[in-house]
Amino acid sequence: MSIKVGTVFSYQDLPDVSNYPFIINKQQNKQIFVRKGLFVFTESKEGFLIGIVERILLLNEYFSDGLTIKAYDENTNLNIIKGLFPSDDFEFAIAIVKCLGIIKFNEDNTEQVEAISRMTYPANPGSSVYLVDESILNQFIGFDTEQGLLLGNVKVTEFKALVNMDRLLNKHLAILSISGGGKSYLTSVLIEELLARETGTPVVVLIDVHGEYLYLQNISQLKEKIQVYDTTYFQISTSKLSPWSFKKYEQQISPVQIRELSKYVQELKNKEETNGKYSISDLISHIEEDPDTNKSTKQALVGWLTELDRLHLFGATENPNIKNAINEGRMLIFSLEKEINIKKKQIIVDYLCNRLFYLRRMDSIPPFFLIVEEAHQFCPEAAQSKAISKSIIETISREGRKFMACLCLISQRPKKLSTTALSQMNSKMILNIKNPYDLKHLMDSSESITKRYADMISTLGVGEMLLMGNAINYPVFIDVRKRKFQSKSEDVSLTDVCLSWQKKESE
Ligand SMILES: Nc1ncnc2c1ncn2[C@@H]1O[C@H](COP(=O)(O)OP(=O)(O)OP(=O)(O)O)[C@@H](O)[C@H]1O
Ligand SMILES: [Mg+2]
Repeated sequence: MSIKVGTVFSYQDLPDVSNYPFIINKQQNKQIFVRKGLFVFTESKEGFLIGIVERILLLNEYFSDGLTIKAYDENTNLNIIKGLFPSDDFEFAIAIVKCLGIIKFNEDNTEQVEAISRMTYPANPGSSVYLVDESILNQFIGFDTEQGLLLGNVKVTEFKALVNMDRLLNKHLAILSISGGGKSYLTSVLIEELLARETGTPVVVLIDVHGEYLYLQNISQLKEKIQVYDTTYFQISTSKLSPWSFKKYEQQISPVQIRELSKYVQELKNKEETNGKYSISDLISHIEEDPDTNKSTKQALVGWLTELDRLHLFGATENPNIKNAINEGRMLIFSLEKEINIKKKQIIVDYLCNRLFYLRRMDSIPPFFLIVEEAHQFCPEAAQSKAISKSIIETISREGRKFMACLCLISQRPKKLSTTALSQMNSKMILNIKNPYDLKHLMDSSESITKRYADMISTLGVGEMLLMGNAINYPVFIDVRKRKFQSKSEDVSLTDVCLSWQKKESE
């Protein structure tokens, strides 16, 4: 039995096709008082019209005339009005509902939604308004009650937000908010859900810039499933790089020098003793040994390559072996926590993304879900801050879907994130964003983010998100659930850290 919460009526120029007002029932159950964000429905000429309460107004005829109230306030006491007249009885609340869509039920099973369509006719004044039941909301929003990822509760309800994994990941995902908005927290909730699935889950690959997810490897229920690699272990296999990759890493290398380099690379590959595997220092020695080449080209090439060698990244073998690691793991964390050199970080991300995407295209590894924290560092918008990894991240965002290479970009500065990449992130989890430039950039990159949504995004609290895009049929606000496994550093305050430093110094 649906619970009635009010009656549609005519107010100002409403109802129209997109909005309708209703008078909120005064004798409503205290537990379910009508609030902003509640899903309601009414029967219109087209079927069941589902909407969301967007505004609530409180009206009282007794207190509508400013001059009368002022006069009473100055000479007597407003409570006298309340004593003399039944002013409280004249108070009533109006809810303004934003219409979302029409649902039609299956004739044999009135619990089963058969079709969802757009509304083309307003709600009828006089008709009753009811709360939407959980099962109907699940079907309307497109939640997956059987295998969905439990991310939290639908706002102002107790209904579970169970998001279908295929819909969420297949067309990529962006998680955006101001710093401290709860992106990493939400990501760990998502990871908990993905790792809890028995089968049919892509391998999670996480680029952990600040080492925020390393706590996961100490959780006894998860550690079997997680493999952590940090930058000290990470090594690029030089022989897997094409000569043009070197130009990507050292942009000043000229095309003529690249042509020369190609010759050396080929020679080294064919050399019996290298077995097709060589490090960057092998390449440098090989160039230095060559008596024929023009001296200045040789010097320049050796100079560029020596500079790259100083990054201690380019060896003969690949560490870890990406293909084996992915095939064996459920989740791989690449921690960049100890690395401060941004160029080195970008090269690592570039190499990883290239290898993952290549191996996936060849069907040599299973589908993966690649999460990039601080994505604006690796795929920035501005032409002047050319990031080495930008091109491959944009490529995966454009083409990854066809190969089940799923991407999740996380950023606290959407404006600084490549528009090309952002516009391909079909599902978006948006937590609080205050900066008007970031909001505008979001509106530009996604037509479903209207001015009204932008206003709501700027007032979200920590742990509240707007989920929109391919993952669901209609944007929905969700209270992100608490994570099951805690990070030790989570509740550490500034005072705690200062105290432990003082203690350390006094010892
Ligand atoms: N759903 C939630 N429930 C409870 N606490 C939360 C929730 N989301 C975030 N928090 C808390 O808010 C704080 C900031 O969260 P988090 O580190 O995820 O922010 P962030 O958006 O990743 O920030 P940054 O951009 O700086 O990395 C953390 O201390 C976290 O514990
Ligand atoms: Mg974070």
